[in-house]
Amino acid sequence: MLHAVIMAGGSGTRFWPASRRLVPKQLLALSGQRTMIQSTVDRLGDLIPPSRQMIVTNKILVDAVREQLPQLPAENVVGEPCKRDTAPCVGLAAALVQHKDPDGTMAVMPSDHVIASPGKFQAALAAAEQLIEEDPTRIVTFGIKPTYPAESFGYIQAAEPIGAAHGETADGISAYKVKQFREKPDHETAESYLKAGTYFWNSGIFLWRASTILDAMQAKVPAISERIAAIAASMGTDSYEETLEREFTAIKGTSIDYAVMESYDNVVMIEAPFPWDDVGSWQALSRLNEPDADDNTVVGSHVGIDTKGSIIMTQPGHTVVTIDVEDLIVVQTADATLVAPKHAEERVREAVKALEERG
Ligand code: GDD
Ligand code: MG
Repeated sequence: MLHAVIMAGGSGTRFWPASRRLVPKQLLALSGQRTMIQSTVDRLGDLIPPSRQMIVTNKILVDAVREQLPQLPAENVVGEPCKRDTAPCVGLAAALVQHKDPDGTMAVMPSDHVIASPGKFQAALAAAEQLIEEDPTRIVTFGIKPTYPAESFGYIQAAEPIGAAHGETADGISAYKVKQFREKPDHETAESYLKAGTYFWNSGIFLWRASTILDAMQAKVPAISERIAAIAASMGTDSYEETLEREFTAIKGTSIDYAVMESYDNVVMIEAPFPWDDVGSWQALSRLNEPDADDNTVVGSHVGIDTKGSIIMTQPGHTVVTIDVEDLIVVQTADATLVAPKHAEERVREAVKALEERG
């Protein structure tokens, strides 16, 4: 059976000051009413029911996630004792799925993306599940046509098409064998990938049998795998919580992209048939919300006099006024305000670090 695993333990620092330790990006509504994690669950539609949806997040966020997703059984919101990146998260989720459903297949996805066509997304998940039925040791990914040499994504080099003629599966979805997976290349390499035309961005969504990814982790990251196996052995016993705390904390973290994807040799890529946005930093707000006539993106209340190309976000009941400014980001919250030119948006991370050091 198909299970959804939503990874929601990231910190979203580039969205400071809206994103905070206890309210990270995935718990915010950046366009419309629903938060990013609610939209992630919404887009599963009827394909995967709440009983087979699992959220893996940090333990400090468990209550907030449960509050946002009241339809999920409480035990399906799993808290990690600490942040160890996505490989341990995937390992723990796979062990939990396998405990419930030994032959289960998992669709693992981030909690902080925007995907515009849920119907197409569900069709792609169903096609991926079919590809795994045909060969249970496969890992299926979704590739996005790159538009610039991003250094913050993984890249997938597509090889020959698989499935029916010209690589199309029954639903008209194109699938390819993967020649190479490269996580976060440097700028020069990313440029060469863009030019080559055969590389796609990794959307960060993966499908695999729980048993397949556990076997792969055992082969490629045995130190993590041992800890996960110890946690798995305690599932259903009184010592589970204590074992989880001890073993998970002892793991040296890494991402699933480095741990498994770069070296796994049976990967298939479906060319994503849905529009995808990573919502990586403040400028994404202009893609998610219609800018006004002066190209300003406003969430909240703003009066702009000779103001162009800016991104303004305010709290309810607060108004931001800007005069004679261009390409500025202003984010006002109850206890902190950000003012920065758009071109410096990546440096928000520096601010978060400085604030952490200040305590
Ligand atoms: N439970 C849990 N625990 N979730 C985590 C943790 C953790 O320690 N760390 C990150 N996550 C969640 C994040 O909340 C996000 O939803 C997802 O896992 C991916 O983590 P990111 O930290 O955002 O990864 P990335 O953006 O650097 O890279 C990944 O996504 C790109 C696409 O957005 C990779 O898979 C890239 O290859 C990919 O291109
Ligand atoms: Mg990300």
